[in-house]
Amino acid sequence: MAQLWGGRFTKETDQLVYNFNASISFDQKFYEQDIRGSIAHVKMLAKQQILTDGERDQILEGLKEILEDVRSGKRKISDKYEDIHSFVEATLIDRIGDAGKKLHTGRSRNDQVALDMKLYVRDEIDEMDGLLKKLMESLLKIMKEHVHTYMPGFTHLQKAQPVTLAHHVGAYFEMFKRDRGRLTDIRKRMNTCPLGAGALAGTTYPLDREYTAELLDFDGPTLNSMDSVSDRDYVIELLSAMSTIMMHLSRFSEEIILWNSNEYQFVEIDDAYSTGSSIMPQKKNPDIAELVRGKTGRVYGALMSILTTMKGIPLAYNKDMQEDKELTFDAIDTVKGCLALFNGMISTMEFRKENMNRSAKNGFTNATDAADYLVNHGVAFRDAHGIVGRLVLTCIEKGISLDELPLEEYQKISPVFEKDIYEAISMRTCVEKRMTLGAPGPEIMEQVIAKEEESL
Ligand code: ARG
Repeated sequence: MAQLWGGRFTKETDQLVYNFNASISFDQKFYEQDIRGSIAHVKMLAKQQILTDGERDQILEGLKEILEDVRSGKRKISDKYEDIHSFVEATLIDRIGDAGKKLHTGRSRNDQVALDMKLYVRDEIDEMDGLLKKLMESLLKIMKEHVHTYMPGFTHLQKAQPVTLAHHVGAYFEMFKRDRGRLTDIRKRMNTCPLGAGALAGTTYPLDREYTAELLDFDGPTLNSMDSVSDRDYVIELLSAMSTIMMHLSRFSEEIILWNSNEYQFVEIDDAYSTGSSIMPQKKNPDIAELVRGKTGRVYGALMSILTTMKGIPLAYNKDMQEDKELTFDAIDTVKGCLALFNGMISTMEFRKENMNRSAKNGFTNATDAADYLVNHGVAFRDAHGIVGRLVLTCIEKGISLDELPLEEYQKISPVFEKDIYEAISMRTCVEKRMTLGAPGPEIMEQVIAKEEESL
């Protein structure tokens, strides 16, 4: 046990208490951010003449060495320290002696940990944004290739109207675009520096908080020291945004699982992204998609957990808040992993155009277009709806599609139908005529794709 605060105690901490309280096993994850924060703090202290330039240089040298040694594995982070802050400070004092004891001047672990967590989350937001961008690039590639790949669009998981694969994938592109927007918003809102808030009430040293904030690329310092050490809103916002990302990935995964099934056969997941069964030799399972769908629960769980942890905490810092870390780290790693693997899976997947096209043809997805044909020939829409409903019934009885129904049968039900009905309800017409902005018509779709590509 190596504690920073033993002075006022007359007894050793009970080992179980020590273990329960310690956070080194997980907060060592942000050792880089902790050292980065200390470097800025020390530079500011020297600028304000709270430390001499000599002390500053000694401390900076020591901190940089610790950083390099931990990075290279030369120095292990030992769990004999309570947390990462204690580890860094104690190691510094071991290395440089008395100057190291001045590192914590004008600072508390409360504002220090608030800073570390912010720095960590900010770095991770940037990484996650990059992964989302990569995924969107892959989606855009699929969209470009499949502007003319017809497939059924569904409502209630019933075939509804024909769309294209580009259009279907494009829907997810929009979702991930909003996800990136949410990350940008959060990053902007959280980008204020808590360092200098001290334990809760600031400090009596003449700190230059603007300067520290600038050194650490924040937009400025936080404006209330009590809020600074107890704000975890941005963690909640991030977990909420990540839950939404997972919800989107999970819906897409669910569709891929369906599409990959023997019943649909719309896609073939690459061998590298599938797994087999220990007993059934024929199996090729979509495990990656299933895991992404499954892991969504974990990220939602983290959000509920932190919301519940935070809800009854009086101002300012309380140890409850230490609970923010493990679940946030786990959720971030989960989302990053899912984004990368999902991207790998989707960009190696084969789309079985023929099967999609056939499926679009065989589910009466052109029934609305048949009704529109009648409307264009002067029939009221409600009557046209009834007429086509009867045609569909006839087709079901005969086991054929609307395209295969002979003209006499059409005319038996309504004399308005002419030969050109077949052209009017062909898959190509059905899709190409849908030219409103946001619709699957290839012409408008191509314009949208060009716009998306520019904004990516
Ligand atoms: N490990 C603590 C946390 O994660 C660091 C802050 C400790 N502060 C304190 N006064 N005990 O919240």
